[in-house]
Parts: sequence; C-alpha cells; structure tokens
Amino acid sequence: MDKCEKIFPYEIRDVEASINAELLEYFTGERTGFVQVGPEGYFFPHKYKAHAKQYYNFEARPDDIWIATVPRSGTTWTQELIWLLANRLDFEKAQQRPLTERFPFLEFPLFVHDEVKAELQAENSHSPAALEFIEQISRPGYETLSKLPHGQRRFIKTHFPFSLIPPSVLENKCKIIYVARNPKDVAVSYYYLNRLFRTQGYVGDFERYWRYFQQGLNPWLPYFSHIKEAKAHSQLLNVLYLNYEDMLVDLPGTISKVGKFLDYIPDAVGLEKLVDHLSIKSFRENKSVNMNEMAEVGILRRGEAAFVRKGGKDNDTKQQDQKEFVDNPKLLKIANDWIQQNTDCATSR
Ligand code: A3P
Repeated sequence: MDKCEKIFPYEIRDVEASINAELLEYFTGERTGFVQVGPEGYFFPHKYKAHAKQYYNFEARPDDIWIATVPRSGTTWTQELIWLLANRLDFEKAQQRPLTERFPFLEFPLFVHDEVKAELQAENSHSPAALEFIEQISRPGYETLSKLPHGQRRFIKTHFPFSLIPPSVLENKCKIIYVARNPKDVAVSYYYLNRLFRTQGYVGDFERYWRYFQQGLNPWLPYFSHIKEAKAHSQLLNVLYLNYEDMLVDLPGTISKVGKFLDYIPDAVGLEKLVDHLSIKSFRENKSVNMNEMAEVGILRRGEAAFVRKGGKDNDTKQQDQKEFVDNPKLLKIANDWIQQNTDCATSR
C-alpha cells in the first residue's frame, strides 16, 4: 500500500433490499444496486464501493480548477464560463473540443454499468471511434486525469459533496467554484436528465421522482446536505460560491466575480462576446457543450428533453414554479413544506 494513501473514512452500506429492488425497476441504467455513504447517506450506484478509496485518494494539483455542484445546478454553463476565462477567451479551441474533454467529469465512469457498457459496445461495433469513446468514458476519472501532463492545467467537474471530494483538493488550495440552485428547479431538471441518460434510465413519473429526490435516493443527494457542506466551505479564499439564479439575473456580474477569482477580466468586446456565447440560445446550438458526443454513441435516449433544456423558469407562464409543480398542488405543498423545514440551508428564495 502506498504509504501516503488515506483510509476512506466513511461507511458504505447497501440500500435496504426492498427499496433497492424498487429503484432498480425505475432506474434501468443501474443493474446491480445502490449504496449510501457516511452519516449523510450520499447515494451512488454500487460501483462506488469498489472505487471510493481511489477517488478519495485522487491527487489534486495546486493549479487545478474544480467545479462542484448538485447535478442540474448550471454546472455546464459555469464550466464553459470558467474554461473560457481561464483560457483568455479562446473561443476557437472551445469550439473544436467538446467541454467533456476540456473539463472532464471525475466520477462519471461510476455510472457506466458493465452491462450498459456492453450494450453500447454492441450497438456501436461498426465504429472504432465510438468504441474508443465508450472505453474512455468508462475508464475511472482518477486514472484518466492523473495521466494528463503536468504542464497542462486541469479543469475538473465533480458532483461529489465536499466530504467526498479528494482531500488533496483542499490541501493543495485548488480553486473550487460551487454553484447552487433552488431545489425544486434542480429536481425538475434532474428528473428530465434521469430520463435522458441511459446510464440512469428513469422510467417513472415526476411525482415518484420527487419522492426519491426528497428522500435522497438519487445520485449525489441528499440535496440539503450537499449545500450545507458547500456553505460551510464558502468562506475559504480558494472557494467561490455562486447561485444559478444570480447568474440568470446578472450574467455580466457573475462573469466579473469569476473573472476576479481566476485573475482575468475580459475587456468590453470580450465580455459582450462571452455573454452572447453563454446565452441559452447559443448553448442549445453549441455542439461543444450540449452532449452531442454522448448522443452520437446512444447514451442519450431519443424523444426525451435535451440536455440544455429551458434554462431557468418558464418564460411563457411567468410562474414561480415549473409546470411539474403547478399542475400538482399537493406535490407543491409537500415540496414547499420540506424546503421550509430545511430552510436554514436552503438556497430557495
Ligand atoms: P433546466 O433543465 O431547468 O433547463 P447542469 O449543467 O448542472 O446539468 O445544469 C443544467 C441546467 O442548466 C438545465 O436547466 C439547463 O437547461 C441549464 N442551462 C444550461 N445552459 C444554460 C444557459 N446557457 N443559460 C441558462 N441555463 C442553462
């Protein structure tokens, strides 16, 4: 054993058998089962058990830039912003290489179940490039990222809460940008993502999904534990805590905040170009950020909402809440009560 290796400090327990069986029925991308980790019970597919120690021991480098979020909090949007500021607005390079390559997702391979991988390989057997891509996205992130040359600055996406982020990230004072979004919008957006990604393969309705969300029975949840941990770290000089809702209201203001944090403030022309590049409309059409490469190998299910979906509230109805709640007042009340109970650490307004 490497003498510097840290012992993984948390208990990893299997989800209770009957709940596990139900979840396997509704989340068809996982075939073995789920686990919960530590006192907060962070939820993962079974693969986490075999890889927890290696993820925890991943060696961060001082100049790494990290983004950490609960899924569907505006991660991709902020990643593109970070990458462009840190690369002096190199729009050309941003266009040439997909964001998933420029800003890899550390733990995504945990979600590629061996059976799903075999299915994807069979479907793509005619294309060596697709097979290589499938191999790449199922190789543990701690391996792939360790191999990147030291001269090349690494940009790393994670949805791990602070307690599961490799401790070397804080020890090395890497810059970490955390983005929070209000839980109802996260849940609606995450519901559609769970339907879209075959690696999740959700086949139930929203009401059921909300129940799982509230109980923390979906990857990287519970929501409020994740946010609480981030808030507890938000005063560190190497941590920048942002809200998705603030970005929607004042994108130039957020660009300026992130620019200060990364020591690069664009000039007026650059700022205008950046604001346009980051607009929801440009984003939807931008193949470099909208998971086009995942769609090409069949990881995204056809007929589901796109990865870059609405972006914010429904502008047509001017409702405070999205349709999934407005159409179901009973569920809305359950959600609001739950948020109220957790209000101390909620990001909802
Ligand atoms: P919705 O599903 O509510 O539309 P993540 O990148 O963390 O998965 O977050 C996805 C959410 O951010 C989705 O929310 C997506 O539409 C939204 N999003 C993506 N690009 C955006 C942009 N340029 N402006 C505003 N929201 C954006």
